[in-house]
Amino acid sequence: MEPILSLDRMTVRSYLEEEAGSSLADDVLDGLTRPFKELPPKHFYDAHGAELFDRICDLPEYYPTRAEREILQLRSADIAQLTGAVELVELGSGTAAKTRVLLSALADAGTLARYVPFDVTETMVREVARTLLDEYEGLEVHGIVGDFERHLQHVPDPVPGEPRIVAFLGGTIGNFTPGSRRGFLRAMADLLGDGDHLLLGTDLVKDPAVLEAAYDDSAGVTAAFNRNVLTVLNRELDADFDPEAFDHVAFFDREHEWIEMRLRAQRRMVVPIRGLGLEVTFEAREEIRTEISAKFTPQRLEADLAAAGLELVELLTDPQERFALTLARRTPAAEDEVPRRRFAS
Ligand code: AVJ
Repeated sequence: MEPILSLDRMTVRSYLEEEAGSSLADDVLDGLTRPFKELPPKHFYDAHGAELFDRICDLPEYYPTRAEREILQLRSADIAQLTGAVELVELGSGTAAKTRVLLSALADAGTLARYVPFDVTETMVREVARTLLDEYEGLEVHGIVGDFERHLQHVPDPVPGEPRIVAFLGGTIGNFTPGSRRGFLRAMADLLGDGDHLLLGTDLVKDPAVLEAAYDDSAGVTAAFNRNVLTVLNRELDADFDPEAFDHVAFFDREHEWIEMRLRAQRRMVVPIRGLGLEVTFEAREEIRTEISAKFTPQRLEADLAAAGLELVELLTDPQERFALTLARRTPAAEDEVPRRRFAS
């Protein structure tokens, strides 16, 4: 495909418009016709949802963003040293706020040459590409607009002799159910060559009261964020949800070690979703699961990495041990094993 924007040191390519139909419509049709209703969390993030998420990151109860930033501030120089990275690929780059700490460390180490931001929002990728081009002299930016669950194969192949970091920060890996989580780790492992590293942000298991407060803040911002997905359905699929008729529910599932967010119907309701030609019935107190956010122990992290052909190199935590940044690399193949091949892009 042709680049939609190409300057000397900057390219932005989009893979989103290649598809007919909408993943939102399909996800809603699947999710709301199940015996246990569910909506995938990626549909939280329209413009208003993204704004609410930014507000969540500033809440006193929501520690993960601050804890991860703290780790980056304390350990970026070590990460630069250990990886010698020439290239940083970032999945879900957003505004690249935290990334700058890492980019600066790589620039200070004198190795940084290329940044590859990957995000679903085209304006973000363009904006980030343009600003970083100015902020880091000589930096090359190869922006990719796409859905990281479907378009990861468009990340360029690793270049031998140019060490790469693939970063997936913020704890977003926690949104995947356990099997898909391993599948996605495997897909990220496929972006790594010899000498390359994965940098993965994960929230850690801790006192359930602390976890639950982070997802049920006293100002009600998380509740608004949760209900916003119904507003998205109203607008995009011509649905008739009354978001205020659903209660925000957030609890730590101790067995699975994840936070679960739900929306609970206050009463029986029949909700038309005209865009799908569907009417959805909710019994009183019936719930929609809207998000899981997995919390990790080092043991579980290692097991998930191993299942994806990865091994842990360093586990970096903040001083309060609330959050972890993991550096991992591909497990060296046994002598008699056939080398792995990547899909052609
Ligand atoms: C963006 C997926 C990392 O799971 O903590 C914040 C989203 N949901 N509050 C998380 C979220 C409710 C967040 N992630």
